[in-house]
Amino acid sequence: MPKLVLAYSGGLDTTTAITWLKKERGYDVIALNIDVGMSREQAVLEERGLAAGASKVIVEDAREDFLRYFAFPALAGGALYQDAYPLATALARPLMAKLLVDIAHGEGAVAVAHGCTGKGNDQVRFDVGIRTLDPALEIVAPTREEAMSREAEIEYLQENGIAIAWEVKGSFSIDENIWGRSVEAGVLEDPWMAPPPEAYVWTIDPEDAPNEGVDVSIGFEEGFPTTVDGELLSPVELVERLNEIGGAHGVGRVDHVEDRLVGIKSREIYEAPAATILFAGHKAIEALTLSKQQLRLKRQIAAEYAELIYDGLWFSAHHQDLAAYMLSTQRFVSGEVRLRLHRGSVTVTGRRANSSLYNRSLATYDRDDAFDHESAVGFIDIWGLQTRVQARQQLLDQLPEALRIAQPREEASQ
Ligand code: ARG
Repeated sequence: MPKLVLAYSGGLDTTTAITWLKKERGYDVIALNIDVGMSREQAVLEERGLAAGASKVIVEDAREDFLRYFAFPALAGGALYQDAYPLATALARPLMAKLLVDIAHGEGAVAVAHGCTGKGNDQVRFDVGIRTLDPALEIVAPTREEAMSREAEIEYLQENGIAIAWEVKGSFSIDENIWGRSVEAGVLEDPWMAPPPEAYVWTIDPEDAPNEGVDVSIGFEEGFPTTVDGELLSPVELVERLNEIGGAHGVGRVDHVEDRLVGIKSREIYEAPAATILFAGHKAIEALTLSKQQLRLKRQIAAEYAELIYDGLWFSAHHQDLAAYMLSTQRFVSGEVRLRLHRGSVTVTGRRANSSLYNRSLATYDRDDAFDHESAVGFIDIWGLQTRVQARQQLLDQLPEALRIAQPREEASQ
């Protein structure tokens, strides 16, 4: 039997896929669970995978790589899709595509498979990634080819003599990893409907969060977070810690109507306490260490970077180009930020950096002010020169009354 490597979550869809790929398609199925956080227990994965007919179950702990090479660069790049979504699901897909291809090569497989449906973004991210990395591998997507209802899947497994006790499932479709939790479908499909309490699992309702907030300080090194309250932590420890603290204070809930790559608007709920805190903190260090021009261009690059990640173009030259700029901007983005978490909100209350561009003697209104007030007059004269010349030559007649009144007295009287 030809070998196939399946991206395996241990859930009903991909477990059914194992049986289906073996029985209907004649593959020797290797189930690969890529743990990017929140994976099921290895024992459960193995038991289910083998019961469903996999010849082998491989569990890869990819959490550290996921944060170091995917989530943290996206954080440093300021990548929030449509200013809202920290891209947890989207960032994990290229990593999974890469590991699927690597394991397929190692196992001598001719095909890979994933459990994505035919109307989401994830199928695009998987397929584009896999085909870019190895165009010779065949891709099979059982759910896209033959969508079965939950009942039909359970029945199909039973018919094939596979008895697994499935946990009761809510009405939502959920994807989660250490960087965030994505929830859609069910009652959320009505964008007017407030998310029911059970849609949120990582975060307490801000109304029920403690009335006393908490301060947390985060250290950044060249754009990447490294410490919490002065303690040096591994990426996994750091993000887990912040997910916990943030969740306990109701931080990190996002309710978003977003544009899928396949042209559909969809309503999605996200929970991403650590990402929310880190984005706020990172932005505060950048405000201190980047120039006005760097901040301005970087905002534009960030939007482009987020689209690229969302749209599944991770393995592209465009990405390399954007990443080169983005990482270059981060060389002085090191420092510490203090944030207050309180009932769902994150507020920066302090920041410091060795390479800070903030200069108190320039900023102060006190007597030790070092700013040259007189040179401001000359600066303003030249700064406003083009505007004044153009207004005289071209605009004065056309300026609406209100603006004409606002002209400097001297010019208005001429
Ligand atoms: N809309 C998000 C994205 O495309 C998350 C999709 C995750 N899937 C889910 N079942 N909630 O990246």
